[in-house]
Amino acid sequence: MCGIVGYTGPREAYPIIIKGLKRLEYRGYDSTGVALQNGKGVKVYKKKGKVAELEDAIVGKDLHAHVGIGHTRWATHGEPSDRNAHPHQSSSGKLAMIHNGIIENYAQLKSELINKGYQFRSDTDTEVLLNFIEEIKTNNNCSLEEAVRVALKRVVGAYVILLVDADDPDTIIAARKGSPLVIGVGKGEHFLGSDASPMLEYTKEVVYVNDYELAIVKPDELILKNLGNEKLTPYVQKLDIELAAIEKGGYEHFMLKEIFEQPQTIYDCLRGRLDAVAGTITMSGIQQYADQIVKANRIVMIACGTSWHAGLVAEYIFEELCRINVEVEYASEFRYRNPVISKGDVIIAISQSGETADTLVAIETAKAKGAIILGVVNVVGSSIARASHGGAYTHAGPEIGVASTKAFTAQLAVLTMMALKIAYIKGSVSHDRYMHLLNELQEIPEKVAWVLKHSDHIRTLAEKYKDARDFLYLGRGYNFPVALEGALKLKEISYIHAEGYPAAEMKHGPIALVDETLPVVFVATRDTYHEKVVSNMQEIKARKGQVISVITEGDDMSASLSNDIMIIPEADEIVAPMLSVVPLQLLAYYIGVAKEQDVDKPRNLAKSVTVE
Ligand code: AGP
Repeated sequence: MCGIVGYTGPREAYPIIIKGLKRLEYRGYDSTGVALQNGKGVKVYKKKGKVAELEDAIVGKDLHAHVGIGHTRWATHGEPSDRNAHPHQSSSGKLAMIHNGIIENYAQLKSELINKGYQFRSDTDTEVLLNFIEEIKTNNNCSLEEAVRVALKRVVGAYVILLVDADDPDTIIAARKGSPLVIGVGKGEHFLGSDASPMLEYTKEVVYVNDYELAIVKPDELILKNLGNEKLTPYVQKLDIELAAIEKGGYEHFMLKEIFEQPQTIYDCLRGRLDAVAGTITMSGIQQYADQIVKANRIVMIACGTSWHAGLVAEYIFEELCRINVEVEYASEFRYRNPVISKGDVIIAISQSGETADTLVAIETAKAKGAIILGVVNVVGSSIARASHGGAYTHAGPEIGVASTKAFTAQLAVLTMMALKIAYIKGSVSHDRYMHLLNELQEIPEKVAWVLKHSDHIRTLAEKYKDARDFLYLGRGYNFPVALEGALKLKEISYIHAEGYPAAEMKHGPIALVDETLPVVFVATRDTYHEKVVSNMQEIKARKGQVISVITEGDDMSASLSNDIMIIPEADEIVAPMLSVVPLQLLAYYIGVAKEQDVDKPRNLAKSVTVE
């Protein structure tokens, strides 16, 4: 959702910015633009559509500059169009600005500016903020930095903004609240980005800007201040990502690459933490809070989308192993509900990006009420990771495909380890069961690799079912959230309507949809509820629905009731979701490809949802 890039230094800015914008394409966008400052003024080029279309449209223009900013816009205020694309220019034409976020009180600011005679060229909240800044700068005859600081004190909403000023040729002013901003520190140059991907080949030294901070960025100087104009010391961190991690590496799509990376990513997630021989789980970010978790009244999982589904699986696991009451909340509902939080509550925030606006605000709300916040986050140094008291990184590496795949299985691996650790300390799991589950967890990477070997079969199923209008996904127990996740994957990637439901609950409504045209995907692996799920399969069969099922190897009964099957190896029900979700990821992927959809960047979707 909106990507921002900036550069100031001795190199040509334009190629760095364009390459950076392409790296941020995965975030989802509908228009793009750049502002280049070459000492003779600020030139803005922008266009509806992809970054490549902008490049084509400006061939032959004067693109020489050593300072520049670039943007990919995901429309909020005003349709996707050339005029609503960023950067915007101020009334005088001297300032150009890009923005990621939403200015909630833009209507009020806009009417004040209209009364002062301002006219607007776009429908955006960004142009309003920019002119508001210019108005303050002109009226008070102050620096741009000062004007930004004053303006931001009146702003309600979330933002990262980057500004260039025709009168200050080598400086970029940046500020953040609620949306991500990373500054890369080079030798005599600085890079800015929504994440570190635009700067990876130039520098590994980065500064994560915090909320309510403002940066004055010059080629050889980075000044960080708070909105009270006090200087702060930038905390420079070393990135631990290689360029190869954000490239396709021979796969047709990032999504396929990420599905196939799962044996490795789950292994990386377990590595150094799980020791099945010694019977230990080492999680330093949890250790310190272990006592409080053991004594917790309840655990509240807060997340959105796929991460929410991981929270649902974890609810079953924590309740089973730790005997602690767990609730799973949509962050967007939780934050506005005036939730009841008591001191002994533990919040687990689950997020791949670590930047999801609703999740971030929800945990701030809970933190203010005294809860302990543990983050289960993939992106190192992200806002949610930093806002949490403790937690564990999922170590799945950069996830570029908009549809989350490897992040989900890594979240499950981390949450399962957390539950096992707490259960062991609490004594709510027997030693034998604990040891058995450690071994089961350790075998997961190998078993995922086994499932992936059957991908060709799933590709043929995709061809067979790709023209269905709707799909129903059903599962019980640990596999109910997997059914939800399978349905979410399919609708994101193929635009086929798909609904996930608890298999038994299906009788209370969705069964009305069943006829010979409806594929019903059962997540029917061998577990405690297996016989019940088999009965549900029979109910669908009796109504001529087409049953496609994910089953455990050797389950002839389920196979005989199914039109088609996808197989996983035998595994304990607690760890099985990390396996049963994989065929569903592949099915969604291959159907999306068969329907010629843009699977890595599905329409309307953003990788990291930084507006509420
Ligand atoms: C998953 O495929 C989605 N694109 C989406 O639901 C995602 O899981 C959700 O937006 C939460 O993101 P986060 O994990 O980065 O917080």
